[in-house]
Amino acid sequence: MKTFFITLLLIIPVLMNAQVRQAITDEKDVPVYELPEVLVSLKGKKIKNVKSWEKIRRPEVLKMFQDEVYGRIPGDLKIARSRVVDEDENALGGIAKRKQVVLTFVKNDKELNVEILIYLPKGIQNFPLFLGYNFYGNHTIINDAAIRLTESWVRDNPAFGIVNNQITEQSRGVRSSRWPVEEIIKSGCGVATIYYGDVDPDRDNFGDGIHPLFYDKSQSEPADDEWGAIAAWAWGLSRALDYFETDKDIDATKVAVIGHSRLGKTALWAGATDRRFAAVISNDSGCGGAALSRRKFGETVARINTSFPHWFCNNFNKYNNHEEKLPVDQHMLLALIAPRPLYVASATEDLWADPRGEFLSAKFASPVYQLYGLEGLPATEMPEPDSPVKGIVSYHIRTGKHDITAYDWEQYIGFAKKMLN
Ligand code: GCU
Repeated sequence: MKTFFITLLLIIPVLMNAQVRQAITDEKDVPVYELPEVLVSLKGKKIKNVKSWEKIRRPEVLKMFQDEVYGRIPGDLKIARSRVVDEDENALGGIAKRKQVVLTFVKNDKELNVEILIYLPKGIQNFPLFLGYNFYGNHTIINDAAIRLTESWVRDNPAFGIVNNQITEQSRGVRSSRWPVEEIIKSGCGVATIYYGDVDPDRDNFGDGIHPLFYDKSQSEPADDEWGAIAAWAWGLSRALDYFETDKDIDATKVAVIGHSRLGKTALWAGATDRRFAAVISNDSGCGGAALSRRKFGETVARINTSFPHWFCNNFNKYNNHEEKLPVDQHMLLALIAPRPLYVASATEDLWADPRGEFLSAKFASPVYQLYGLEGLPATEMPEPDSPVKGIVSYHIRTGKHDITAYDWEQYIGFAKKMLN
């Protein structure tokens, strides 16, 4: 008997670990779950109109995401200085205007510089502008020798010539397949990007990036309900928008915030927290993004908190293997974007991000759009691959793997032009 209990004690942690590791990839293994009601307040009041959504329920939902998922921002910090460090009226062979702008933040004797790369169409005004982060530096989005190189920490990627966490000339344009800059410009839209590591390097270290500027003397990491990296990145997008409001070349009321994968999670949180973003686009954002957590399909809360302990606030760990205890689910994140245009996209081979969970989230956010007299997602069943469902809430599942491709962008450009022009 004694040996039995000892074996049990030894085996429990192993089993728990296995629980973290084993991913559901088959629909038949999805557990039965019940989603929290987006339109019932904490006091049990049924939310029936825009007024009570905006006054009662929306603030409740936003606060639950702040306290339990992404973390709240511990204070206010405005741009101390913005400097246009490059301006070219004839970029990309003359079709675009290029600008590079450095935003400087100062607090508690610390300073942080964040650099925005902007391409604008010429001869038109008040065009939609896509704003999104990139993974490996602004210079990777297109082969343009004038793009300045970031000095921030970058994840090593020898294939891109990135070693010792520093980028080199070799990585110019390596991510151009993800950024069809010329097509965007020719369509009459603008595009702006920031290297996300300028705001906060993507590693489990709260001693770099924007976080330390907010610490008091005794602090070395955020409190349990304070911002992880995703909230920090989302904060950075809002500061870019602050800058756009001061730039006469840009109509800051037409900014579509966009992101792929972890940066899709970021775009959604930015859109939820900052209602100045006119539209939000989530590409393969998955767990902690558009996908419903309670389905536990692909990446789970426990898994994401284990692999990326710095992305969410510490409180989010409470829900590892306990998704049913979450006061929210991700359809409520999408609902925070209402009534603004929202595009959610998945890919057929991207099971890790749970395409069906992303679709269902868009569907279950739709009742909030309906309060505003809008249809929300115009579909109740998941569409076939490569057959976008187009509405104020749009959705597609593209054939292929986890990526953001020319096909995805073609849909987003059409969407932005229709919704924002
Ligand atoms: C990992 C992670 C995902 C994330 C993705 C990405 O796969 O598990 O949550 O979306 O990286 O950002 O590429």
